[in-house]
Amino acid sequence: SQVYKETALGGGRALREYWITAVDREIEIGPGIRFPAWTYNGQVPGPTLRANEGDTIRIHFTNAGTKPHTMHFHGYHTEAMDGSLSEHFVRPGGTFTYEFPAEPFGLHLYHCHATPLTQHIHKGLYGVFIIDPRPGRPPARELVMTMNGFDTNFDEDNEVYAVNTVGFYYNQHPIRVRVGELVRIYLVNLTEFDLINSFHLHAQFFDYYDHGTTLEPTSHRVDTIMQCQGQRGILEFRYTMPGMYMFHAHQSEFSELGWMGFFDVKA
Ligand code: CU
Ligand code: CU
Repeated sequence: SQVYKETALGGGRALREYWITAVDREIEIGPGIRFPAWTYNGQVPGPTLRANEGDTIRIHFTNAGTKPHTMHFHGYHTEAMDGSLSEHFVRPGGTFTYEFPAEPFGLHLYHCHATPLTQHIHKGLYGVFIIDPRPGRPPARELVMTMNGFDTNFDEDNEVYAVNTVGFYYNQHPIRVRVGELVRIYLVNLTEFDLINSFHLHAQFFDYYDHGTTLEPTSHRVDTIMQCQGQRGILEFRYTMPGMYMFHAHQSEFSELGWMGFFDVKA
């Protein structure tokens, strides 16, 4: 089935159409640990959507789940496209078409805004939405990291923490990068139940672009940043020495419950 279509609009701009379906699906968040998720297109986080500043986004949304859902985007749009009021809720079996300009450039997100919001976000209905500036950022090794957590015993506290859903994944599968290569991480916090989450990098410091809405860093040379839910930013750095370097939440509890990994830096 069709998921994405791009049509030139002239002036270097494009209409970017996506077909997204909300569906209940059990996902694996660690070896043998299953979680009854609500998903966009069967995955948590949902598909990363990417456009250039000034493009037009059109989302053909279908709710194949068992509860009312929406897609609420961070960015510029009309009230009818906000996906947050009860009249915006798409009932099970229903459809809705969202359309809005890709503005402003930056690192954004989308999530379901049906109530109770805590449940609809925690169950997995969120994803990353990147709007690139014109004429673009410098070439880099790019990674999307969604900080999230899972309450597996329904006590409104998370038992598993991760980036991109699977606890300890990048501990088992270190991310290979080269010495001197520019690494760019699109970091978004969608952790429910905890007030903040954080990112700490070993052995290097990074430049940070809060919300990605500027071309100049908003913080220079830091090795730890924190984000509340919905907050996001772009990290840029280069490793100067080969080795295995850890990255993790600097809340020790989160890193011990899955939110940690390694960069495997080769010369
Ligand atoms: Cu929902
Ligand atoms: Cu939001």
